[in-house]
Amino acid sequence: MSTEHVNQPTREIGQSGSKVPVVGLGCMGMSDFYGGRDKERAIATLRDALEIGVTHWDTSDMYGPHTNELLLSEVLKTERERVFLATKFGIMRNEKGEWLGINGRPEYARQCCEASLKRLGVEQIDLYYLHRPDPEVPIEDTVGELARLVEEGKVANIGISEHDVSLLRRAHKVHPIAAYQGELSLWTDVHEGEGNVIEACAELGVTFVAYSPLGRGFLTGAIQSPEDLADNDWRKTNPRFQGENFKSNLEIVQQVKAIAESIGATPAQVSLSWILAKYPHSVVIPGTTKSKRVRENALAAQVELSGEQMKVLDGLAKNAQGGRYA
Ligand SMILES: NC(=O)c1ccc[n+]([C@@H]2O[C@H](COP(=O)([O-])OP(=O)(O)OC[C@H]3O[C@@H](n4cnc5c(N)ncnc54)[C@H](OP(=O)(O)O)[C@@H]3O)[C@@H](O)[C@H]2O)c1
Repeated sequence: MSTEHVNQPTREIGQSGSKVPVVGLGCMGMSDFYGGRDKERAIATLRDALEIGVTHWDTSDMYGPHTNELLLSEVLKTERERVFLATKFGIMRNEKGEWLGINGRPEYARQCCEASLKRLGVEQIDLYYLHRPDPEVPIEDTVGELARLVEEGKVANIGISEHDVSLLRRAHKVHPIAAYQGELSLWTDVHEGEGNVIEACAELGVTFVAYSPLGRGFLTGAIQSPEDLADNDWRKTNPRFQGENFKSNLEIVQQVKAIAESIGATPAQVSLSWILAKYPHSVVIPGTTKSKRVRENALAAQVELSGEQMKVLDGLAKNAQGGRYA
């Protein structure tokens, strides 16, 4: 397995002056939600990612919960300066992983930030997101406290995830929002029309960080039947991975594969390259537990799609069957 450095263009995170390579690494699946987890392999993958040049790492206190941040700390111990480190707070889970709701209260934000700094073993988080909106707490209050964490040097940049456009605008008035994290892929390009959050990001100078850019693995063609997933894999509960939806969605993958074959790329690379070409203010954080896939995904930054191919790919999301979440 080659860990040779892959050249990638960089893009700025918001207007922060910090630039990251366009393809980063989602670390969630190393500790939670998806099958095939292996701590030693995950640590090796994180180390290899740095050699390959994949330095924007995305985690959250709720992945595990907590164990994903602890996993990253194993590498950050010696490699802190090489990583652009993003984590999140706001989704509460207990140690069994049970869902306890959303919390955007200022005192909770501070408490979580301090706990994440400790678990990660770092003095500053490069990008700190509110993971979901808390309907009980005005966004101004949460972002106001995050701004104080910036003043204190505990956080360098503020992000929000899965908020609507009006919340984004309100948040941005309190303190510049450097990044917005939302689901975006060939089967989830749902941000068109009124309230288009991707357009609002472009207008405000906010980077759109595309999560699940491989359709949680589906768009790569590696998952051919629901039976390919372990029984405890979260995707089994996701409507897109079930029954008739699954079968119908395979037609999307067929089209991605056909384009990939025609240009000597892989479906994963075509999926990532499409996002980066369509949205110049985006970066992607594909998740993988495997070094060879970190490299394959990074090479997407070098794949070029023609206008005709972009047009075909633009048309795929409208055919996706099933909701993003149950
Ligand atoms: N803000 C939010 O609410 C939110 C929600 C979900 C995710 N996220 C973040 O976004 C990151 C990425 O999303 P995701 O992990 O849900 O989905 P994803 O990146 O769309 O897909 C991940 C899946 O694809 C597989 N994969 C990766 N590269 C591949 C390749 N080249 N060929 C074949 N299969 C490949 C991985 O399996 P292997 O491990 O076996 O390679 C994994 O099962 C997460 O890690 C997390 O940091 C954020």
